[in-house]
Amino acid sequence: MAMPATGTFICLEGVDGGGKSGAVLFLNEALSAAGHDVLVTREPGGTAEGLALRRLLLAEDAFDWLPMAELLLINAGRVQHAQNVIRPAIAGGKIVLCDRFVASTVAYQGAGRGIPQATIREIHHLAVGDLWPDLTVVLDVNPRIGIARSRKRLDDAQVDEGRFEGLDLDFHDRVRQSFLAQAAEHPKAYVVVDAGREVEGVHRDVLHCVATFLAARGKSRA
Ligand code: TYD
Repeated sequence: MAMPATGTFICLEGVDGGGKSGAVLFLNEALSAAGHDVLVTREPGGTAEGLALRRLLLAEDAFDWLPMAELLLINAGRVQHAQNVIRPAIAGGKIVLCDRFVASTVAYQGAGRGIPQATIREIHHLAVGDLWPDLTVVLDVNPRIGIARSRKRLDDAQVDEGRFEGLDLDFHDRVRQSFLAQAAEHPKAYVVVDAGREVEGVHRDVLHCVATFLAARGKSRA
């Protein structure tokens, strides 16, 4: 089968503490070893401007953003990230692995903060046009486990990024349900992996899902 001319945009998503960052590193190693050209990035972040916004968005007690302000800040970072990093990498044929993207906005600012989905999609479209992931992998874990993991990691690393971890469990339950609902609504573009298990099994399943997806797009290097 002929190789598609452009790259592939894959996002890792889920509630805090689901192990996305470790899964991204694992996928990067496995896909690179198989001969793929991989770019790893994340949101909030991904560019110098995005990192500056990340500090504003995630510092725990410094700011009290209203939901719409939070949504616009996230999208401001996404404009920079999409134009300067993601689109060029996709055009260059890379596999872009992104730790969080628009599914997080639908889940956190939509289901979590209560902004209507239509508004979130409209602003996403204004910010980045039709840039949607080819595949979104949701690492699903009960927030009671995930938030405790995430909190411990932030405390151990002494990073002041706990603004969302500080929100109540009802918020995180809504976020989790939104990821599952998005996956149920778009079964071809989402996969859900149970992340409440030992990490080796999670990574094995994530790689299997991604490899299956790439093979179906004619990008198998196995
Ligand atoms: P992240 O660095 O992935 O944190 P963790 O590794 O703990 O999961 O993301 C930080 C936070 O950013 C996360 O709690 C969710 C939030 N976020 C949103 O609320 N909306 C968004 O669109 C994105 C990309 C992230």
